[in-house]
Amino acid sequence: MRTTILDLQKMKGRGERFTMITAYDYTSAQIVDRAAIPVILVGDSLGMVVLGHQSTVPVTLDEMIHHAKAVVRGSQQALIVGDLPFLTYTSVEEALASARRMLQEAGVQAVKLEGGAAVAPIVERLVALGVPVMGHLGFTPQSVNQIGMRVQGKAAEAARTLLEDALALEAAGAFAIVLELIPTQLASEISKRLRIPTIGIGAGPGCDGQVQVWHDLMGLYTDFVPRHAKRYASLAEQMAQALASYNQEVREGSFPTADHSSSMKAEELAEALKKV
Ligand code: KIV
Repeated sequence: MRTTILDLQKMKGRGERFTMITAYDYTSAQIVDRAAIPVILVGDSLGMVVLGHQSTVPVTLDEMIHHAKAVVRGSQQALIVGDLPFLTYTSVEEALASARRMLQEAGVQAVKLEGGAAVAPIVERLVALGVPVMGHLGFTPQSVNQIGMRVQGKAAEAARTLLEDALALEAAGAFAIVLELIPTQLASEISKRLRIPTIGIGAGPGCDGQVQVWHDLMGLYTDFVPRHAKRYASLAEQMAQALASYNQEVREGSFPTADHSSSMKAEELAEALKKV
């Protein structure tokens, strides 16, 4: 049975912390289910960690749908949330069209969009029409060209605006809110004041859930680890070692062996060669 938005609500009620992880393909989604992680985010971080862009800004709805479809095929248990990319929800009509494609074509169960009170009317309409919406506040990567990549809400006024934005999203019917790169104390306070769960990334332990980006957690970068990320594996190193061994074995002739190959009867080969 897939996790539902109701399950997340109940977890918050019980004070039970939960995890969300990004995934962008079929195989990863299967592994997430094996680890019993209840929520998958097909994040537009896709743009950076999979497609090699500098930010999430160039990501298109078609690209999101392509990857979300693969994740949906790989997962049976997680609630799957798909990011609406940059400028695909500039009006209620556009947001409805984008959400329709994410839910009907890709098969995700919910969408995530960035912004506070300004997007509340859009959230309200989506929710009224049956689209579960996750909000995203604090550092909102789609606005990187405006706000830069830094912690948000450190000063009193900015902190108050973030709290007001969170309350506006809750009132509009959002079922959860990602809090990215905001001070721990503020994230805890917002989490206490909301009935819906908060999901933190770089927002401290006081959030109801945590989200990490797959490539950060798995150690798939060799150079850069963001401060908010924790490496639970060093897969880039293991992968590079595996590739080096493969390369070496092929060059020296120790792979493939009979174990990795098939054979045919000598007379069949002789017959085939006779006629050439
Ligand atoms: O796109 C993404 O991966 C995200 C997370 C960082 C929350 O929005």
